[in-house]
Amino acid sequence: MSDRVLLDDVAYTSYMATDLDLMESFLTDFGMKRSARTDDALYMRGTGPAHHIHVTRLGSENKFIGGAFRVQSRAELEKAARIPGASAIEPITDPGGGERVTLITPNGHNLWLEFGAETVPELPARRVYQLNFASSHLRFNTAVRQRPEITPILRIGHFVLWVPDAPKEIAWFRAHFDLVPSDYICAHTDAPEPKVVGTFLRYDRGSEYVEHHCILINESKHFGCHHSSFEVLDLDAVTSGHDYLVAQGWNLDAGVGRHYLGSLIYDYWRDPFGNRVEHYTDTDLINDEYEPVYFVGTADETTQWGMAPPPSFFD
Ligand SMILES: [Fe+2]
Repeated sequence: MSDRVLLDDVAYTSYMATDLDLMESFLTDFGMKRSARTDDALYMRGTGPAHHIHVTRLGSENKFIGGAFRVQSRAELEKAARIPGASAIEPITDPGGGERVTLITPNGHNLWLEFGAETVPELPARRVYQLNFASSHLRFNTAVRQRPEITPILRIGHFVLWVPDAPKEIAWFRAHFDLVPSDYICAHTDAPEPKVVGTFLRYDRGSEYVEHHCILINESKHFGCHHSSFEVLDLDAVTSGHDYLVAQGWNLDAGVGRHYLGSLIYDYWRDPFGNRVEHYTDTDLINDEYEPVYFVGTADETTQWGMAPPPSFFD
């Protein structure tokens, strides 16, 4: 049996903010629904069965607190508790319950491994309009009637950590969890070997197809979370949500566009506290036959089409 902890999926990301009402107002427009609220915390869900996918804790400053993965079984949680420096298995006192192991990554990020939280009945997502491609027609006698509206978020798909020492962080994640690199972002250098500054990691499930990444670890002068990313249904969902958020006056970061690595259609927004959050759809599904790309391009080349991210995105 592998010592690596088998992950199920990203559970949530957690932030501290000075105003829970303002965060809830934004996240509601962004496509989440309130799952629970206490005097000092806000728990937001998507349409999927997870009790919450975003946590905000009331505090005196605005910052990223950490990220959480669900593990595949309680036995995996027991494995997590044996990672050097891990906490014991502890009951989760937040709404939704379950049990967790708390870890601090080599660069100092909080990481929680969780199992057994309650699930909630799934909510209806918006209707799907099939696309009529020139090469294959899928929609007949049905008009598209998609207005700007709140786009329902389905689930959290990935988050991106900034760390000062990426090789150390990646080695630790790979040693302890069933993660494998998908692609690498490399800096321009004159050296013959690529200088990796960003590594996309996916679940290591052999021939099973999984999303291109569940976490991206980026070497940076910053510390925290570059963005948390939430899946929506399709392109109409991204664009209708985009237009709705524009109309509400929220702060657009970059979008809509299509990334190069992972091919995601993206739309990045800033929450009222400056945290970057993403709507995405249509990412690559890959398995162990996939050959990693060492991407050495300009910032502009990370976008295939659409509104390219501003220079601050690549700080
Ligand atoms: Fe992303």
